Amino acid sequence: MTDLVLAIETSCDETAAAVVQGRAILSNVIASQADLHAVYGGVVPEVAARHHLTTVNAVVDEALDRAGVGLAQVDRIAVTRRPGLIGALLVGVATAKALAYAARKDLVMADHLHGHVAACWLDPVALDPPFVSLTASGGHTRLDLVEDYAHPVLLGQTLDDAAGEAIDKGARLLGIPYPGGPGLEALAGQGDATAFDFPVGLRSRGPDDLDFSFAGVKTALLYATRELGDDGVADRRADLAASYQEAIVRPLADRLMRAADAAGVPAVSIGGGVAANGRLRALVQEGAERRGLRVAIPDRTLCTDNAAMIAAAAHFTPAIAWPEFVGEDAMATAPPGGIAA
Ligand SMILES: Nc1ncnc2c1ncn2[C@@H]1O[C@H](COP(=O)(O)OP(=O)(O)OP(=O)(O)O)[C@@H](O)[C@H]1O
Ligand SMILES: [Mg+2]
Repeated sequence: MTDLVLAIETSCDETAAAVVQGRAILSNVIASQADLHAVYGGVVPEVAARHHLTTVNAVVDEALDRAGVGLAQVDRIAVTRRPGLIGALLVGVATAKALAYAARKDLVMADHLHGHVAACWLDPVALDPPFVSLTASGGHTRLDLVEDYAHPVLLGQTLDDAAGEAIDKGARLLGIPYPGGPGLEALAGQGDATAFDFPVGLRSRGPDDLDFSFAGVKTALLYATRELGDDGVADRRADLAASYQEAIVRPLADRLMRAADAAGVPAVSIGGGVAANGRLRALVQEGAERRGLRVAIPDRTLCTDNAAMIAAAAHFTPAIAWPEFVGEDAMATAPPGGIAA
């Protein structure tokens, strides 16, 4: 199928649009609002929604221009319907509905997490099932068995904080500005990951357990910084960052391998913003190679929020025919099971 899809993503603080044909990304435009939110130390929902409103049309135009296609040539329009910040989602959904209505196109209302899983379907990674997928992002951490891209099956998930949330909160404790992930990784690169023995969540559970927990490691970092005091933290920042990063990414890689062993699949994939982390990428690569598994690691721009992954999810989500989608709405929460196709 070589459908030409225009996709729009506005679930958090990236205004994104992409044009994708089959598995080929023709354009992938991302306007990040991170600088706007940095002064507040995190995403402010109202600020995000208002900014999406001012940028979304220009981002869509840019995606069409870069792909060299007009709206009339597009076969379907896709948009992130859930989960995310409701005001932010509404801007993308209203834009996509208006464009689809005016251009008489069918609309696909895609799931953001499905997008993180489906990112590795796109070229050049182009992974086919079966495989086990790790999604580690700002709001979610989960393992899915993907035997069919349309219906990922949940194998395990975090019982408290998401990995990205723990990374952002830890970064904040170390004085790294929002968004914390890239800054924490850069600082960790100068430190010793064995310097502090931070606890790994659910370590005492059996080998079949595929859930995660990151609340304990976050508290452990807080106590370590209190004990060290301001001067001590200033001296040991890189070691703290490296040890903290290790305590988060190692269980992600370990449980992904464990899940792949249990499922007997020939491949693993990673996705979501935390999958942009170099240490996680290296651990997953090593673990997969040791087992002779194929490893699908999408480009970093396809791990953090983008619209190309929404086009990928749309490929496996039924379209709503013109003009039946006009009554459809955005939803803040994920459905039971976590991913809607
Ligand atoms: N290089 C990196 N190392 C570690 N974490 C990173 C890196 N780059 C980004 N992140 C983290 O990824 C998260 C953002 O991922 P993403 O954009 O997918 O999340 P989200 O869309 O806000 O949440 P969700 O996808 O769960 O709705 C943040 O927590 C950020 O700190
Ligand atoms: Mg995301």
